[in-house]
Amino acid sequence: MQINLNGKTALVTGSTQGIGAAIAKGLAAAGARVAVNGRSEASVQRAVDALRAELADADLVEVAADVTTEEGVAALQAQLPDVDILVNNLGIFEAVPALEIDDAQWRRFFEVNVLSAARLTRIYLPGMIERSWGRVLNIASDSAVVTPVEMIHYGMSKTALLAVTRGFAKAAAGSGVTVNSVVAGPTHTQGVEQFVYQLVNKDLPWDKAQRQFMIEHRPQSLLQRLIEPEEIANMVVYLSSPLASATTGGALRVDGGYVDAILP
Ligand SMILES: NC(=O)c1ccc[n+]([C@@H]2O[C@H](COP(=O)([O-])OP(=O)(O)OC[C@H]3O[C@@H](n4cnc5c(N)ncnc54)[C@H](OP(=O)(O)O)[C@@H]3O)[C@@H](O)[C@H]2O)c1
Repeated sequence: MQINLNGKTALVTGSTQGIGAAIAKGLAAAGARVAVNGRSEASVQRAVDALRAELADADLVEVAADVTTEEGVAALQAQLPDVDILVNNLGIFEAVPALEIDDAQWRRFFEVNVLSAARLTRIYLPGMIERSWGRVLNIASDSAVVTPVEMIHYGMSKTALLAVTRGFAKAAAGSGVTVNSVVAGPTHTQGVEQFVYQLVNKDLPWDKAQRQFMIEHRPQSLLQRLIEPEEIANMVVYLSSPLASATTGGALRVDGGYVDAILP
């Protein structure tokens, strides 16, 4: 399969590190012009420099903007009036005992993980429909389907994102625009690596540490290792491409079989 995204502009929210950075790299490698986003100019610059070191010809746009605020979104829109591929990757997570999640935390998770994606979709979807081509990808989580008791507010936000995805896919019906979510499983990011070493012996080399973490804390994973960010990115790049033209309104799993379900 040849994936060619020449001529397409992509925005990946929260792409200075982790899964977002891998998605930005995958889309740029496929030829898209990619807007790299984070909250500060310094972090965006660092991410863009790292990408250019690997992909000298990458066509990158630096967008330092907090996409959870009206001012941030206005600045983003001024810099990037049209987008063909919108990847709502930005998401936060934190463990809080169920009965201690207060109203502010419930609101914050809704605002960052759901509303920022819905708002950007509202902004960029009409242009995609007008041009009869576009892709919206929302990065969800296994926590959307298997509610984690240690972070119900995070699970709630990701479940909501699946509903938002399905709804906007209906709003784009027949237009040539597809809207999907990708259900990512436990992934090897900096934050998750620190989390693993909080739970297993700090002196273990990474391979052994993750193996022990998976056996003790994620036994339901069929992969029995963390997913690499590039493995999530591969699905996003495929769904972003013209090859995925008949897949819309779906939630596609890249979860290493973590969710115990037959349907994708
Ligand atoms: N890691 C996992 O195991 C896992 C599993 C399932 C699903 N997911 C989902 O995958 C997505 C990415 O997760 P990750 O672990 O790769 O994230 P991460 O490593 O924590 O990175 C978060 C990114 O978001 C940016 N960011 C944070 N707040 C922002 C804001 N208000 N506006 C713009 N950018 C902002 C950060 O950049 P700056 O600091 O430069 O602002 C950073 O680039 C999330 O939606 C997450 O829920 C992750």
